[in-house]
Amino acid sequence: MSDKKIVKERIEKLRGEINRHRYLYHVLDKQEISEAALDSLKHELAKLEEQYPESITSDSPTQRVAGRPLEEFKKVRHSSSMLSLNDAFDQEEMKEWEERLKRLRPDIKEFDYYGELKMDGLAVSLLYENGILVQGATRGDGITGEDVTQNIRTIEAIPLKLENPANEKSGKTDGLLQKAFKGRFEVRGEVFMSKTSFEKINKEQKKKNEEPFANPRNAAAGSIRQLDPKIAAGRKLDFCAYDIVTDIGISTHEEVHQMLEFLGFFTTKQNRHCGNLDKVFEFYNEIQNSREKLLFQIDGIVVSVNNISLLKELGVAGKAPRGMIAFKFPAEQATTVVEDIIVQVGRTGALTPVAHLTPVKVAGSTVSRATLHNEDEIKRKDIRIGDTVIIQKAGDVIPEIVEPLKRMRTGKEREFVMPKNCPVCGSPLVRQEGEAITRCTNSQCFAQNRRRLFHFASKGAFDIEGLGPKIIDQLIESELAAEPADFFELEAGDLEPLKRFAEKKAKNIIEGIQARKIISLSRFLFALGIRHVGELMAQDISRLLLSKADNLKDIVKFAQGLTREQWMEIEGIGDIAADSLVEFFHNKKSLKIVENLIRAGVEIEKERKAAAGILTGKKFVITGTLASMSRDQAKTRIQELGGRTSESASRETDFLVAGENPGSKYDKAKKLGVKILGEKEFSEMIRNKYAK
Ligand code: IVH
Repeated sequence: MSDKKIVKERIEKLRGEINRHRYLYHVLDKQEISEAALDSLKHELAKLEEQYPESITSDSPTQRVAGRPLEEFKKVRHSSSMLSLNDAFDQEEMKEWEERLKRLRPDIKEFDYYGELKMDGLAVSLLYENGILVQGATRGDGITGEDVTQNIRTIEAIPLKLENPANEKSGKTDGLLQKAFKGRFEVRGEVFMSKTSFEKINKEQKKKNEEPFANPRNAAAGSIRQLDPKIAAGRKLDFCAYDIVTDIGISTHEEVHQMLEFLGFFTTKQNRHCGNLDKVFEFYNEIQNSREKLLFQIDGIVVSVNNISLLKELGVAGKAPRGMIAFKFPAEQATTVVEDIIVQVGRTGALTPVAHLTPVKVAGSTVSRATLHNEDEIKRKDIRIGDTVIIQKAGDVIPEIVEPLKRMRTGKEREFVMPKNCPVCGSPLVRQEGEAITRCTNSQCFAQNRRRLFHFASKGAFDIEGLGPKIIDQLIESELAAEPADFFELEAGDLEPLKRFAEKKAKNIIEGIQARKIISLSRFLFALGIRHVGELMAQDISRLLLSKADNLKDIVKFAQGLTREQWMEIEGIGDIAADSLVEFFHNKKSLKIVENLIRAGVEIEKERKAAAGILTGKKFVITGTLASMSRDQAKTRIQELGGRTSESASRETDFLVAGENPGSKYDKAKKLGVKILGEKEFSEMIRNKYAK
């Protein structure tokens, strides 16, 4: 199939699925997938349409913003449109928003804002006549909503009669308050459900064998639109007020909130005045860090230009007021594609299938892996390779697949089959009766693998900064790494949920790993952990191999063709090492590890032109601390000049370079009669010759 055809098919699938969810969500109050997941589908569609504008049709979900009221409720025309808000997801977008405001009002030097919590519920309008609640209506399509007065009346947080419970506090606003009590007075706000009520209701749903609600917003919406008010009353709904529509002469949004409190409405106590955009950012960060502790769900903050007449002057663009914006928290769900399901061997030999995903941003960081726990879980959720899936990252847990979007299937998806043999050591696998876990029968398997990973990242090998045994153990345990190639495919978002992993640390490690993607061939060979091949021998081998080929693929091919005798032609390689090399380059599993590294993007450094032969044939050992360079820098220089380095002194050693506080190598070298160089002598040796 041509690329264009594949894209067209994907676009059609996306449209069908988005339309179905919109109908469920807006018309039937049912929600099968989260808003974040639906947004993710819409985002993909919008991107494809941007690339292929000729594919845009007038009925594409990207071309519509709507929502119909249900037929069964009496319709109510709103006094003024119930608008929605535009979203911003990061500081950049917030700055762009402010820039737009500044372009509209260049006379204003600094905008003054009010920040409030963005409740995750549904908007309603409450109408009071002479202080008495006469009508409650849903937003509907913004112009016409549904009359849900009966249900609204069951919500204790909504005053049936406007009063001023904090009379003495109102002071100079008293005149305004009196206006609220006279004639028509309209308040808008959000009906929502607390986290505890939500859990309780879902338990009851389960007991009744009914579908649980996907989230509190969904539960609140489903409840407020119940035709039977008894059901709504049993659902423990809450209400938070955020706007007064009737003009009673209030001048700032901050005062609107004070007034709402005076009138007996609940408003979120965290809301506050923010004198500029930096203060808004501070507010956002504080709220984001403390949102877990809130008793209800929020999905961001709402930021408004505080001055109401200015807010009105700025006007409306499309369906949203220009002077207000929703600064949302990063979505905790997203959709992506399962590219493969790979089985990983854990610490105890337990096999865990892990989904390898097309990298996607969830809750602010990129994720490429999700654990699938075990074979039964894959069957239960019916996840197939090639599926478009919803993934979720809640709190500090490792991302998981919520469900596949089965309607997105093309027929090319493959079912996962648990292998019969361990993917690491090839031993047979067993799954005991009544157990969900499949295990590798070879107790040595994991231990070897773990050591191989430690060795791979260690100093003489890939020398990956920050990637020590403790972290590698965590990676193994959480099924993020089973073989060296896995290191190179990690994203910061995969690490963050692990213990003691701050965002910055995760980023540093990923950078450390990526920085070593291009590596010298000798380090690469040493890192493979070929038995009897030490650092020095790896250098000798790499010199030979580099004279034959300059890329890993060809080098491996060449090495595969070498016989025991040919290996032994390399200086320092005896029969034991030669046998081990032949074994390694003929072993399918070893070759697979190498192949996967190449596939993960590991490359060897192009051979640096050494100042030919200056230190050729000379073997160095370095001990102690050098003042002018690190030990690694010294090693690199020696190698660049054709010399070789080793970690321990032997009869073969030509020079021992001794820095400050030399270790036991010094004594050994002295005993063996190795020539000892001080730092000064060594520097001169490499500088003089290096300069030539
Ligand atoms: S002000 C012009 N303030 O968010 C709309 N809305 O995405 C004025 N929402 O439809 C809304 N908390 O349902 C406002 N503190 C808050 C809010 C809030 C939640 C909802 C509201 C609105 C939607 C827009």
